[in-house]
Amino acid sequence: MTSGREANLLGNVHGGEIMKLADSTAGAVAQRHSGGPAVTAAMDEMAFLEPVHVGDIVRTFAQVNWAGRSSMEIGVRVETQPWNDPSTSALHVASAYFVFVAIDADGRAREVPPLVPETPDEVRRMREAEIRRAHRLAKRQEIESGRHRGD
Ligand SMILES: CC(C)(COP(=O)(O)OP(=O)(O)OC[C@H]1O[C@@H](n2cnc3c(N)ncnc32)[C@H](O)[C@@H]1OP(=O)(O)O)[C@@H](O)C(=O)NCCC(=O)NCCS
Repeated sequence: MTSGREANLLGNVHGGEIMKLADSTAGAVAQRHSGGPAVTAAMDEMAFLEPVHVGDIVRTFAQVNWAGRSSMEIGVRVETQPWNDPSTSALHVASAYFVFVAIDADGRAREVPPLVPETPDEVRRMREAEIRRAHRLAKRQEIESGRHRGD
């Protein structure tokens, strides 16, 4: 991360730049899993754990945690290393969960391949993603029914 425009008032990298990077990485993974275009439908639980310094080398890692009919949850992990000290181990600076929806040429949701978890980590990620999905849906439903009632 380099330029002044990407910095915040404290001289660190603006959180929005990290979000953009995470979104782009998640998009690439969603595209690969679904074999075509996929759009960001939602992002939740973006956690910033440490500041990112101007000049830091930033690496993003992402994987599909869960796949539904047309949507996928993608988990992203962001790590940094000082540009001038390769002996320093990578620091986990941020994590986020994105929901991507695969779309066809008309922008309509299209089906994605199912996810087949194999390792214990993949099984855990899928289980945790199912919990987040259930919470997202429950929250949306509760808000909508409240609006219906005129709460
Ligand atoms: C994402 C989008 C294609 C969904 O369209 P839609 O008409 O709501 O589609 P559906 O109701 O058929 O839902 C499709 C899937 O998306 C999921 N979904 C839709 N909105 C969601 C949201 N806000 N959060 C989580 N999941 C969502 C649904 O649960 C469903 O999942 P499933 O097929 O795996 O069961 C549409 O809202 C869209 O085009 N949004 C703009 C996306 C975009 O341009 N992003 C870039 C921002 S600049």
